[in-house]
Amino acid sequence: MFSELTVGIIGGGGWLGRSIGAAMLAKGVLPPAGLILSSRSGRIDGFDAWPEVQLTTDNRELAQRADVIVLSVRPEQFAAVAIAAPDKLVISFMAGVSLATLIERSGSRRVIRAMPNAAAEIGQCYTPWFATAEVTAADKAFTQAMFEACGGTDEVFSEADLDYLTGLVGSGAAYPALLAEALLAHALARGLPRQVAERAVRGVVVGASQLLGRDGMPPAAMVQAMLDYRGTTAAGLQAMIDAGFRQSVDAGLEAAEAAARRMQAQYAKSEP
Ligand SMILES: NC(=O)c1ccc[n+]([C@@H]2O[C@H](COP(=O)([O-])OP(=O)(O)OC[C@H]3O[C@@H](n4cnc5c(N)ncnc54)[C@H](OP(=O)(O)O)[C@@H]3O)[C@@H](O)[C@H]2O)c1
Repeated sequence: MFSELTVGIIGGGGWLGRSIGAAMLAKGVLPPAGLILSSRSGRIDGFDAWPEVQLTTDNRELAQRADVIVLSVRPEQFAAVAIAAPDKLVISFMAGVSLATLIERSGSRRVIRAMPNAAAEIGQCYTPWFATAEVTAADKAFTQAMFEACGGTDEVFSEADLDYLTGLVGSGAAYPALLAEALLAHALARGLPRQVAERAVRGVVVGASQLLGRDGMPPAAMVQAMLDYRGTTAAGLQAMIDAGFRQSVDAGLEAAEAAARRMQAQYAKSEP
């Protein structure tokens, strides 16, 4: 437990801020009194079990009291967040806001960009993060513990990798949903009753995906094992591959990375 730290989450009532704040308390990373959450509206749900958590609408006050400031507002909301944090660790979840902009806007050189995703809500999120050279070993130990509280995590060693992972991980919860939607549309068009179609698709996308996690089998080995089986699965897989499945995935990840880079240029120009 990091009982000596006070952590302030700006945007702590939002999807990610709330999920990661609650995960840290549930897993004992922080004592409840060590967590401050801010929002503009004052509406922050999900912390009734921890009345010692401090809630505020004043980000300057949060920044003064916290040792670690987590930025969990949307990128377009960041321009309105005025904080001076020259001696603090600043951790940003924002997609498309570069380290250079974070340093300039916060006044801190101890800055981390991290990229969780929506699965933080169920403690199943993989979070890569990238740190400036000034981030200390103690800062990194806290960061690692924070993200382990809601799943797995790794430090990456280039900001370009983090930009790429913004598209792969940050947006990642959407990709299985797209596959599920495509499977469902096909099954419904084929005339299956909706309840059967929905339960079948959920079983395939959610249930069968857990095989990959449980067995730790490399995805390519699993695909090859299915192709080698030479049954209906092989026929289905081969047709999907031949129709350009991999090219679609490549195009999607490249478009997401390009969008992350465009956003960085856009938000670098935003004035507070
Ligand atoms: N959700 C994801 O899957 C995901 C994945 C990767 C990265 N991210 C990044 O994580 C960040 C947060 O995303 P999210 O999905 O949690 O967004 P969200 O649910 O919209 O939460 C943002 C929160 O920020 C609060 N807020 C806005 N301006 C504020 C201000 N000036 N001071 C204090 N609080 C403020 C809002 O509450 P009020 O309106 O009450 O102020 C809101 O609850 C984004 O930058 C996003 O790019 C999200």
